[in-house]
Amino acid sequence: MMDYSQLVEKMKSTQCVTVLTGAGVSAESGVPTFRGEAGLWREYRPEQLATPDAFEQDPKLVWEWYQWRRSLIYNVKPNRGHDVLVKMERKFKDFHLITQNVDGLHYLAGNRNLLELHGNIMRHRCVSCQKKAYADMTEKQEALPHCSCGGLYRPDVVWFGEMLDPDVLNQAFDLSSQSDLFFVIGTSAVVQPAASLPLIAKKGGAYVVEINGDPTPITSLVDLSLIGRAGEILPQIWKAYMHRSQE
Ligand code: OAD
Repeated sequence: MMDYSQLVEKMKSTQCVTVLTGAGVSAESGVPTFRGEAGLWREYRPEQLATPDAFEQDPKLVWEWYQWRRSLIYNVKPNRGHDVLVKMERKFKDFHLITQNVDGLHYLAGNRNLLELHGNIMRHRCVSCQKKAYADMTEKQEALPHCSCGGLYRPDVVWFGEMLDPDVLNQAFDLSSQSDLFFVIGTSAVVQPAASLPLIAKKGGAYVVEINGDPTPITSLVDLSLIGRAGEILPQIWKAYMHRSQE
């Protein structure tokens, strides 16, 4: 087992913890990550489908991809990594979870201090009147869902080339720069602005811990890099922390 002693001391000495997650945290639930072979759908890469241009040119194709991802997500459950992040929220007074994931699994697991940077795949937004609505996954999915105003619905997620909600982004910047302990988990750390949050945390004085399947562009910049599966490492960290807390 890895040596978590320094991390556990940090966890014991603060209540101000911020976590950034990416697709890797949901991988053990069975949700494919974006990058790498498992991320491909048919012959497409996410960068080809998750864009306003792709939707304009071929909304049916883009919706087919989203319907496929939504039904996959609808049928999976949070894993042991998600569960530890719920325990952290209950333990630390000032705990915030920022996620790039649109799968809603953190909410389903029980986290409530949650910022969904890239939106939520179960939500639609009308391209005409901007009204939002949640998909009814018990009903047959339409090839092209429409709003009651007649406008086409799009998934209420942030696509490549689109801005993040400025309020959400500013909150994420503040939470990162103010945190004492910052975890970055299961993200390839290449998509901006999310990838800059661990660096903002570091600049603000936080102890930054990365948990990821592979090294990333930020690995050499963090205080502690733990290479492996989030669903295994997070429970180990929690066990070490609880053990130390009882001493
Ligand atoms: P990626 O697919 O780019 O990266 C997932 C990372 O998780 C990789 O570095 C893997 O090594 C790692 N990983 C895989 N399984 C893991 C496990 N069990 N435990 C820990 N790590 C694991 O996903 P993101 O970084 O989340 O944007 O991608 C960022 C954004 O790009 C997404 O939010 C999405 C996408 O396009 C939008 O939808 C706007």
